[in-house]
Amino acid sequence: MPTTSSPARPAAAGRMVAVNEMTRLIRLLFEVEREFVRTASTLVYRVGEPELKYLVCQHLWESAGHARFLRERGRELTTFGTNDAVRGSISRIFTEAVGRNTADPLVITAGFYEVLKPALLAAYRHYLKVTDPLADWPSKKLVEEFIADEERHAREIAPFLKDVDAREWKLHLTQALDDLGGWLGQETRLPLAAHYAWQHEQTPYTHPATCNRGKYPICSGVFGLDPTEDPIVRPWLTDPKTDARVIRLMVYVWLMMEMDAIDYLSTVFIETPTAPFDLHYDLARHLWDESRHSQFGFRQLPKFGVDLMTVEHSLDLYNILVQMPPHERYAMMTMEFEANSFPTKATVMDRVRELNDFEADTLLAFDRNDEQNHVRYGHRWLPEIMALFDEKRPTEQFVKETKDKFYQLAEIYGGKVPHSLPKEKRLTGEKILKLAGVSK
Ligand SMILES: [Fe+2]
Ligand SMILES: [Fe+2]
Repeated sequence: MPTTSSPARPAAAGRMVAVNEMTRLIRLLFEVEREFVRTASTLVYRVGEPELKYLVCQHLWESAGHARFLRERGRELTTFGTNDAVRGSISRIFTEAVGRNTADPLVITAGFYEVLKPALLAAYRHYLKVTDPLADWPSKKLVEEFIADEERHAREIAPFLKDVDAREWKLHLTQALDDLGGWLGQETRLPLAAHYAWQHEQTPYTHPATCNRGKYPICSGVFGLDPTEDPIVRPWLTDPKTDARVIRLMVYVWLMMEMDAIDYLSTVFIETPTAPFDLHYDLARHLWDESRHSQFGFRQLPKFGVDLMTVEHSLDLYNILVQMPPHERYAMMTMEFEANSFPTKATVMDRVRELNDFEADTLLAFDRNDEQNHVRYGHRWLPEIMALFDEKRPTEQFVKETKDKFYQLAEIYGGKVPHSLPKEKRLTGEKILKLAGVSK
């Protein structure tokens, strides 16, 4: 029987046009947030101020959260798509924003925070303006929250950027963004000049050979055997004769040194551009956890009379790991350093509990809980990260051979950072005894 109705497809597409238009914008916002996480993570080990590292880690985590909620909402709508891929027109701007590894890291920070993120805030505001507040209430609620977050991020970063002259770099990025007419194409497009040169096409980004700790003194490592040289005297941690107050100070130094983990873990995102978003999401969480662990030490040590300018920062782990590809870095972190830290930390926690220091107990308990999750992340993601690099060895064999490789590379790249301070000036086991008011 012949039918007289019009063809089904065009009518169906037309029927959903209002939803599809908002879905298109949510998809763009998701891609922008995920690219911010992938690329702004390169700021962490390039900036020197710990407080700025911590803040960027926090913002990366919040941005990963925005991306996740946007994707969740997007998937309720019909045309969001089933993969996490980012279109080239967005990713190339973020890749450009990473700059060269020789650039002033604060100028690069200003590019992200004074061009790309304000444009994201403008995009969220545009979304609120054009969507229907009742029909699209679920998206509206999210976007309202993200606007408040973006405004707060701008306030939180401002003190770090107030004396930074980044006009030239910001203009460079603004031009790239104007070519799109803003992240949502909501503004008038200003096509790129023919002579516009994409820096990353000329010089692809590579990680700096060492990480930046700004004004703080540095060294190769903080664990050792000599109390006149090293702040964490390994045998003291597990020696029942060590005073618990000494152990508490040493574990705070240990926690503060998780700044290592912040710096080397944040190198992984940029090198895994095709990773599923869930991998970057868990890495962002991992990164933020480590930044809080490091803050435990950074904030507690001064309360016990430690001058942070006497605490040398250990750079060996970054310096060695950056010589390895990302999947090997991640394997060392989760399957070696983290997986093997539990027995000593358990002993330390039991000793610290003698002090009835509720704050110390709390920090150590949350640290332990987080670390258990990190090892879980490792088991979940290591095979996937290996696949991204076409690594076909069985996981167990890969981990074992990666450990061997790490210890070989440590011979070449480890132990090369001289002490910034003479032993009389730096925090050592002996000084910790004095600060704790005990004699060994
Ligand atoms: Fe940690
Ligand atoms: Fe960890």
